[in-house]
Amino acid sequence: MPTTPFDLTAKVAIVTGAARGIGLAVATVLARAGAHVVLADITPAAFAETILEFEAEGLSVEFAALDVSDQQAVDRLVADVAARHGHLDVMVNNAAIIDDSTPLTVTEAELDRVHAVNFKGVVFGSQAAARVMIAARSGSIINVTSGVVDVAIPAVTGYSTSKAAAAQYSRALAMELAPLGVRVNTLAPGWTDTPMNERHVLRADGSIDPERKAAYVAMRAASAPLGIAGDPMDQAYAVLYLASDAARFVTGTVMRANGGVTMPW
Ligand SMILES: NC(=O)c1ccc[n+]([C@@H]2O[C@H](COP(=O)([O-])OP(=O)(O)OC[C@H]3O[C@@H](n4cnc5c(N)ncnc54)[C@H](O)[C@@H]3O)[C@@H](O)[C@H]2O)c1
Repeated sequence: MPTTPFDLTAKVAIVTGAARGIGLAVATVLARAGAHVVLADITPAAFAETILEFEAEGLSVEFAALDVSDQQAVDRLVADVAARHGHLDVMVNNAAIIDDSTPLTVTEAELDRVHAVNFKGVVFGSQAAARVMIAARSGSIINVTSGVVDVAIPAVTGYSTSKAAAAQYSRALAMELAPLGVRVNTLAPGWTDTPMNERHVLRADGSIDPERKAAYVAMRAASAPLGIAGDPMDQAYAVLYLASDAARFVTGTVMRANGGVTMPW
């Protein structure tokens, strides 16, 4: 018997976009809590180092190449995991990409590119997981959105609109699935130190400028009421809560792990 509701022993989880950043932290925390975790990413080569670290810790994981914007591939992976393990308990739709477009300049191509991953990827992952979870009348779907759903940012327009769509979709899905025993929640991270944000501090040769990076992280920390910038593990522990039986009464919520940055004033 689990001694704590955060114990995920015997549970099976899929985490998309798990090769780095928040997805990697989420996969690590869920595996350390006892789950068998399937790490899925469009760049599986990035798993090479991670495999050794997971092995060294003795965690139960497997790795899959997956483009979340490919509905058939998502369906195949989820069905395969459920068939091999007999169940799927946790689905974390985390994979995303970002743009730097403004509302006035965003192009149709950019909208299509970003929405295909950030919005449709969430829909495809949620639907595939829901089919398995409804049959079991049990499961937790966690869709990673962003603090951008709470504020107006005159950049990243493809990203912010895709995240708003994913947030609204998740709320509606939570209503549809609640009577069927499946919980759906969103995680809305505030600024978190991951490779996604390093595009702002790159040198011309593509390497990271450590001084610019330190200044950027400090600026982000100063903008949050708690005075700190997010670490991927801050997001991962929030996902652990939503994934676990500790959150059995929680659905349709937005978990904001963001240092208080979107508190009303
Ligand atoms: N870092 C932040 O400040 C922040 C803030 C708010 C929300 N988020 C959200 O958190 C999640 C993780 O972000 P991150 O900062 O770790 O990003 P990241 O760019 O560091 O990692 C994203 C991962 O997703 C993978 N990926 C991209 N496209 C994919 C696809 N089509 N199919 C499968 N995998 C794909 C990438 O290969 C990468 O491993 C995203 O949903 C992001 O929008 C991040």
